[in-house]
Amino acid sequence: MKKILSLVLAALMLLGIVGAMAEANDQKPVIWFNRQPSNSTTGELDMDALNFNGKTYYVGFDAKQGAELQGQMIVDYLLAHGEGLDRNGDGIIGYVLCIGDVGHNDSIARTRGARKALGTAVPDAAQGKTEIETIDDVDSAPIGTNTDGTATDVQDGSIEIDGTTYIVRELASQEMKNSSGATWDAPTAGNAIAAWEGSFGDQIDVVVSNNDGMGMAVFNAWSKEAGVPTFGYDANSDAVAAIADGYCGTISQNADVQAYLTLRTLRNALDDADIMVGISTPDAAGNVLTDDLYYYDDATRCFYALNGAVTADNYEAFLDATAANPAFSNQLSEDDAATKKVWLSIYNSADNFLNATYVPQLKNYAAALNLDVEYVLGDGQTEANLIDKLGNPSEYDGFAINMVKTDNAASYMAKLMQ
Ligand code: BGC
Ligand code: CA
Repeated sequence: MKKILSLVLAALMLLGIVGAMAEANDQKPVIWFNRQPSNSTTGELDMDALNFNGKTYYVGFDAKQGAELQGQMIVDYLLAHGEGLDRNGDGIIGYVLCIGDVGHNDSIARTRGARKALGTAVPDAAQGKTEIETIDDVDSAPIGTNTDGTATDVQDGSIEIDGTTYIVRELASQEMKNSSGATWDAPTAGNAIAAWEGSFGDQIDVVVSNNDGMGMAVFNAWSKEAGVPTFGYDANSDAVAAIADGYCGTISQNADVQAYLTLRTLRNALDDADIMVGISTPDAAGNVLTDDLYYYDDATRCFYALNGAVTADNYEAFLDATAANPAFSNQLSEDDAATKKVWLSIYNSADNFLNATYVPQLKNYAAALNLDVEYVLGDGQTEANLIDKLGNPSEYDGFAINMVKTDNAASYMAKLMQ
């Protein structure tokens, strides 16, 4: 009897192992990151993608909090640096705005946050809005050129600095998309500032950019030498270093926290562990996040890192955007967490933030978490280019996906369901 039992047990174990080997790809962990599965026109979350299976999550950052912070940082700077700000003395603080991607929630939020803080925001008629309560209500359309103040997607604002009231005008804004369709495109921003400078350069008093890639392109091409305050977002190392040379500020979206969360949620899902291990509660190696760094929305399965402003006051602490955070880079033991293979995509091999900051951070935590990550780089334009590189999903234990277009989650899901 005993013998039969142990034979049955052995057979069951064998079946279990066979079962595990043949684990369906659509049952494996899928972590969406940086580009939140959502409708690129309405911003509505793609809940089918977020609920793809019980091991699916999104990791990003709080776009609204960061956008409000960027707006506030710019206003604080203007209030403290009134003298000489109005370069041509026309009583108008004129700014130009580099927009990343009109279909990307992060970019939309930042355009809205800057406009609301600067008083140039108008309600988003396309969304049926008639008043502005939060930044979500703000029209985020690019305006082209508006040197005369007649554009309808923005209005003239005003700001009082040291007893003088200035008009605040968005002189121009443009989506920085190159001719082959890549967005957040830094070289396009470099070209745009050359064109703007050529036609109304003396009116430009401030440069605002949805990210540092574009902001630094403008800074290096023009505003550094012209001495025009320039603001970006991401706190990439080169942008933080440029604060010493007059770049005025950026926002850290805590890429270390996001990179850790991206791989940590994968690790926990792979181990069938509680998803909060090493996040809200310490893991065996002592890794843990403090709650001022992130929050989790259980209803939508989204983790969001919080943002912080980086300015002349504090930039020295942010100079190395790729440094591992000692609070959550302790090495896991192979006995508790055996090495697993992960397929990870980056939508665009030319994206400054993802390649200069996020990927190095992923590498820090992949090593600590025993994940063997294959990094697959896209061209920023065609989803198929990335999906075609996922030749055989069965070779991987889990997937971390950064899509080209936030509407396209279904094509990855189809691939995993094949
Ligand atoms: C970053 C941008 C980057 C984009 C890519 C954003 O969160 O701020 O710099 O281009 O992600 O999706
Ligand atoms: Ca002026």
